[in-house]
Amino acid sequence: MRVDQKQQVQAQFGPSAEAYVRSPGHAGGPDLDRLVAWGRQRGAARVLDVATGGGHTALAFAEFTPTVVATDLTEPMLRAARGFAAGRGMAAIGYLAADVDALPFDDASFGVVTCRIAAHHFPTLPAALRQITRVLEPGGSLLLQDILGHEDPECAAFILEVERRRDPSHVRSVPRREWVALLEATGLTVMDGTVLPKVRPWEEWTGRSRMSPQARADLDRFVLSAPPRCRDAFAFIVVDGRIASFTDRMLLLRADRS
Ligand SMILES: C[S@@+](CC[C@H](N)C(=O)[O-])C[C@H]1O[C@@H](n2cnc3c(N)ncnc32)[C@H](O)[C@@H]1O
Repeated sequence: MRVDQKQQVQAQFGPSAEAYVRSPGHAGGPDLDRLVAWGRQRGAARVLDVATGGGHTALAFAEFTPTVVATDLTEPMLRAARGFAAGRGMAAIGYLAADVDALPFDDASFGVVTCRIAAHHFPTLPAALRQITRVLEPGGSLLLQDILGHEDPECAAFILEVERRRDPSHVRSVPRREWVALLEATGLTVMDGTVLPKVRPWEEWTGRSRMSPQARADLDRFVLSAPPRCRDAFAFIVVDGRIASFTDRMLLLRADRS
């Protein structure tokens, strides 16, 4: 099941690599600003950006970090990220294909690990967190951002169905309490955290995952016929019967290795 899920990730993201480089929601916003502020405050000689996607987080950290290494499971993503950074004159970032579950680095080799809007694709979070913690030096920080899981089971099931219809490689978004427990079970201490909204324009969000017209029409019907309390939980905006956008809550956590 795990291998299939990772193949699904590559099938999903490979053909969309350039769209992720161009995605305004990934390119920046108060969420990336928050991670950068934590990174600047803490400082590190070496930063690892896990699941770099279009490479925006690696690029932002390369502005003030001597060595940044960006990894991703999907090679076309790394090529697109490298091309994007080179176009910005930031050629010094290292790019390496790697699964978060098997990071090809020595123990304690990074002062900061960033992982932004990706963990909901990881099939086994304890395994991924063990790897991240292993490569962090003692006192090093994980700067994590992911879609916040909803505590209400009906709302969580609704958004999971929406996410999986749009992108079958989506595994699950985790609620805050569960994240804190997972991090602490791996030997990380949560030092700071916040939740920030991220608006998802519907055409752009569904378009980036290359849904067929039929799948997209089915998804729209699913959302429009869902209980209003579920749509409201994610601030779905519907104008003249058409979905305009919804809003994810992004959880951002700084967790330090003891
Ligand atoms: C939405 S993108 C990440 C966005 C990016 N971090 C940013 O700040 O813009 C999700 C990425 O996670 C990667 N990914 C998913 N599962 C992975 C895994 N097991 N190991 C490494 N990368 C993975 C995908 O290939 C994809 O490039």
